Amino acid sequence: MNELKVDFNRPALMGHELEYMKQAIENGHISGDGPFTKKCHAFLEQELGVQKALLTTSCTHALEMSAMLLDIQPGDEVILPDFTFVSTVNAFVLRGARPVFLDIRPDTLNLDESRLAAAITSRTKAIVPVHYAGIGCAMDSIMDVAARHSLPVVEDNAHGLFGKYKGKYLGTFGSMASQSFHETKNFTSGEGGALLINDPILVERAEIIREKGTNRSRFFRGQVDKYTWVDVGSSYLPSDILAAFLFAQFEQREKIQLHRKQVWELYQAGLKDWADSHDVQLPCIPDDCEQSYHMFYMLLPSLELRQNLIAYLRERGIYSVFHYLPLHLSDMGRSFGGKTGDCPVTERVSDQLIRLPFHNSLTSSEQEQVIDLIQGFPF
Ligand SMILES: Cc1ncc(COP(=O)(O)O)c(C=O)c1O
Repeated sequence: MNELKVDFNRPALMGHELEYMKQAIENGHISGDGPFTKKCHAFLEQELGVQKALLTTSCTHALEMSAMLLDIQPGDEVILPDFTFVSTVNAFVLRGARPVFLDIRPDTLNLDESRLAAAITSRTKAIVPVHYAGIGCAMDSIMDVAARHSLPVVEDNAHGLFGKYKGKYLGTFGSMASQSFHETKNFTSGEGGALLINDPILVERAEIIREKGTNRSRFFRGQVDKYTWVDVGSSYLPSDILAAFLFAQFEQREKIQLHRKQVWELYQAGLKDWADSHDVQLPCIPDDCEQSYHMFYMLLPSLELRQNLIAYLRERGIYSVFHYLPLHLSDMGRSFGGKTGDCPVTERVSDQLIRLPFHNSLTSSEQEQVIDLIQGFPF
């Protein structure tokens, strides 16, 4: 009987989470924008050097806010990679946009910047690169094309907090960026997110949209004497109890990032020779990128081998998973005209990719067992 169980993800207390949640209750403010939310905002603004950070209930909601802030209208086109989570596209489709899916680069699995300029039309209203696995997109080229066409860039940085491209933090290139604090991310509050705003013109309206379309934030700062409905909006504020949990994790930034770096490097060192001799592709980190150590993935030579490896590990108590399906081939993607062959790299990578267990309490002995088993996988 096999007793081994290695979860793909496991929540962990990293510092003062429980104490701070208790404190949030004792503060008498457990709705949004309480003292812990303010601490989280200040932390993100100071550490990353962004103009404004606003916690949201998810990365999905931060992306929805960005679509509202850009005034996306029915018929507008938004360019994004085909290999991403549904929220990257849904946030814009919700406002009536037509998605234009770009194929990805075979090395980093990020949007292929060489295809970007050709995808721009007179209807294009935004470019939304995703830093897959927290490894930066080629932001120089992307920002250059965007500037030539006066188009805003929204970085979906769900995976990439504290990753860098050419020494600059991911999430600080576009006019806005979205972060995720979902339970699988480096820093979590269970569910959660943030909108990072680099363009100061967007800040005031972002506060309004996040607060149900009211100027409540200005009211609390004493800038107006009553607050009212001034714009479209929704409720995107997380409870201060969740912000308390998140802030405790932020405080452990060094510890969390160091642990994840060690996890990533142990997989890389343990699997490199095996991968080379079995035609398995390991993650590519370009020289100009510092990754966020969000995940460890491998590309197997075929769908069949990938499925067999997932099943083989599962039978032995190890939980590994595949990732995104090509968006253009989903029911929704097909309704926008997507068809097989449109994005061949995504179509291949989606079949071949496996993600290994990766979380803040993964031990090196658990990892050694994963590595040993993979090396014994019958090809
Ligand atoms: C690239 C990307 N964007 C957005 C999201 C949505 O994040 P959330 O669950 O915080 O809404 C995810 C989810 O993991 C993601 O992978």
